[in-house]
Amino acid sequence: MAATAAANGKVRVRGVELMLLPSVAPASRLDQDAVDITDFFAASRAHIVAGKGGVGKTTMTAALALVASRAGLSVLVLDVEGRPELPGLFGRPPLGFAEATLAPGVRGRWISADDALMEYLADHGLRRLARTMFETGVVDVLARATPGMQDILVLGKIKQLERTGAADVILVDAPASGHAISFLRSPRGLLDAVRRGPVHTQAREVLELLTDGHRCQVLLAALPEETPVNELVETAFSLEEDIGIKLGPVLLNGSYPQLDLPGEDDAAALVAGRPDAGALLEAAVFRRRRAALQARQADRLAAALPLQQLRTSFRFVPALGPDDVDALAGELADAIAELT
Ligand SMILES: Nc1ncnc2c1ncn2[C@@H]1O[C@H](COP(=O)(O)OP(=O)(O)O)[C@@H](O)[C@H]1O
Ligand SMILES: [Mg+2]
Repeated sequence: MAATAAANGKVRVRGVELMLLPSVAPASRLDQDAVDITDFFAASRAHIVAGKGGVGKTTMTAALALVASRAGLSVLVLDVEGRPELPGLFGRPPLGFAEATLAPGVRGRWISADDALMEYLADHGLRRLARTMFETGVVDVLARATPGMQDILVLGKIKQLERTGAADVILVDAPASGHAISFLRSPRGLLDAVRRGPVHTQAREVLELLTDGHRCQVLLAALPEETPVNELVETAFSLEEDIGIKLGPVLLNGSYPQLDLPGEDDAAALVAGRPDAGALLEAAVFRRRRAALQARQADRLAAALPLQQLRTSFRFVPALGPDDVDALAGELADAIAELT
């Protein structure tokens, strides 16, 4: 997709001029990071972390949760796929529909469509009917056969949590790009398909949430590599154009730390005679290429999207754990404090 950045935050894509909303309210620049962080999270109550699979959405969601909780904010993390990675990053067992504590000040829960529907029906005095519907498979027919119905049930629950102020900060670990777009598009589709009744009301209220930048914003995540950057730019325009959702800063995750490497000739002289000279020189070549690649991709992203970037580094460990989330949270806090 050809997208070009123009002056004053406007962007042309496929011949249409789009206005990308500013990512955060201008922060009052005080000395403490905590104040900047509070401002950052106060820009919207719900933050939806989205992006291509494997770029670090779940990791960034966990790190953002720590950043917010350390600034004294209560945090609720919502997983919409029922996967074990998110609680695993806090060293906790898989989440259920009921809230669980993930870390001090951080609660988490898995919002499944079935549980959300069951709860909706129970709240409307239909608990017994709900049970029968699940047992007889009626729910499968109704909820799974209508496009967008599963998504609207999940989004409806998120909307309710946002409305009732379930936490100062609600972080949603969204599905991967392709599904994230259809997930966030579901209320518009249903508004067209269902003209009245509770599903229509739910779709309308969810759309109100998604299009109100004070209540909700999307934080897109990517790695500083060609394909994830392309996909992020596509997703950003799709979300802006089709849904009118506010985009916050981009989470650019997994940059290799900058190394002060000698030039190629000096490097060869330095390692001459060592048995591992070949491997060391190869490693140096790899790191130089990687540094150039990630700088190029970060610049390309900045040129394609007028959004600020929050950068986090690649962690050289076999599997990320709570200590890594902690370190990434520190990097994010510093990056948030640098936002303008
Ligand atoms: N900054 C990082 N450094 C090293 N590994 C990372 C980093 N961020 C994510 N990962 C790893 O990359 C993989 C994908 O991350 P994850 O957060 O699960 O992505 P997503 O939720 O977008 O699919 C996981 O194995 C995770 O541990
Ligand atoms: Mg994930």
